[in-house]
Amino acid sequence: MLGRSSLAGVESFAGVKRRGAGRLLPARLGEYELFDHIGRGGMADIYRARKSGDFGVVREVVVKEILPELAQSERLAELLAAAARTASKLEHTNVVRIEDLQRDDRTLFIAMEYVDGLDLRELLRQCSRRGAWIPPELSVRIVIELLRALDYAHRFELQDADGNVRVGVIHRDVSPSNVLLSFEGEVKLCDFGIAKSYDGEIGEHATTIDGMVEGKAGYMSPEQARGEALDARADVFAAGIILWELLSARKFYKAQAGETLFDVARRAPSRPLPEKGLPAEHVVRALLAKALSDRREDRFGSAAEMQRELERYAARASLVASPLKLRRFLQDNVAPVVLEARRRRELAARAIARGPIAEIEPVTIDTTPPPAIVRKTSPAWSAVVIVALALILAGAILLSR
Ligand SMILES: Nc1ncnc2c1ncn2[C@@H]1O[C@H](COP(=O)(O)OP(=O)(O)OP(=O)(O)O)[C@@H](O)[C@H]1O
Ligand SMILES: [Mg+2]
Repeated sequence: MLGRSSLAGVESFAGVKRRGAGRLLPARLGEYELFDHIGRGGMADIYRARKSGDFGVVREVVVKEILPELAQSERLAELLAAAARTASKLEHTNVVRIEDLQRDDRTLFIAMEYVDGLDLRELLRQCSRRGAWIPPELSVRIVIELLRALDYAHRFELQDADGNVRVGVIHRDVSPSNVLLSFEGEVKLCDFGIAKSYDGEIGEHATTIDGMVEGKAGYMSPEQARGEALDARADVFAAGIILWELLSARKFYKAQAGETLFDVARRAPSRPLPEKGLPAEHVVRALLAKALSDRREDRFGSAAEMQRELERYAARASLVASPLKLRRFLQDNVAPVVLEARRRRELAARAIARGPIAEIEPVTIDTTPPPAIVRKTSPAWSAVVIVALALILAGAILLSR
């Protein structure tokens, strides 16, 4: 449709061209009407979308559309589709529900529960921008909820087509951008099992898909960075890094010059939690030292075990917080900023969808020259002029005789 452009302001006459800011909006993808582009990660564009059902029922969901250059890779598309199929079986209050998976020769997309809020990475950004920090009792609460999600998934029994049962779904990419916080105070983990490329890049820059290491380097366990076989303890390790960073307001992995975060993760530095003056601090420092041990055998055996220890610490240190407290914190500190940014995007998208204010149509220009300006002379004056001319003429005749 003429007059629409993507939010990036890049126009395409082909109609569905892709660019930095995703599709032209609004757009339709299967039964979903995409109306807001909320982000782009390493592999996909994320949209808010509506699905209209019978009797006027409209559901809001999130559509994660895998970048076309990745969706075209048969092997990667298979991997992602398999991960989404597995994740769609998980049903837990701390896990983002997968609702749909669709694939054709050009696109691959996943529709999932929409979490009205923000992700933990964005919360950390907002807090550091304001020079504020998340209270420790909320940090502890967030990680307890994250561990509940992991414990559920790690115990989940998957049955294949032949009836064989396999226990445990490993996330592989537990990181703040995959921890969603709703404005109601819920904590939900998304993107279960979604494969990641070696350095966050897939496509031209990747070594090969076979050589891919999954997960984000900043939250990677040493065994994952070394490319070893993974078990649930890799996810628990990542939850440990998140707790360490939330409590210390610092990054756990710090690269030296010439080093990547993968190198850091591989060499598994030991970093005790800095002293922050937390109540019963030695307890949480010991807990984190255990969670972040290089050798898996020295860590917590399961997410449930770490959750138990953390709950015990929270009770002992009086750092117990309810979802209500998290809700209040988000409402007071970040909801206005997030909602205002969203409102602006929606207004822009609506304005773009409406099209230009005035249609430019060919205008017929009247090329007839304007009538000449004629000074009107009164009849009396005309008679006087005629008589004068006649007298002059007669005089001239008489003189010439
Ligand atoms: N179900 C959801 N509800 C609400 N927001 C979501 C949902 N899923 C993702 N988002 C938002 O979209 C952002 C981008 O998600 P996406 O998974 O594509 O990238 P990422 O997590 O930032 O990076 P990566 O590709 O490395 O996982 C998330 O950080 C989150 O803010
Ligand atoms: Mg993600």
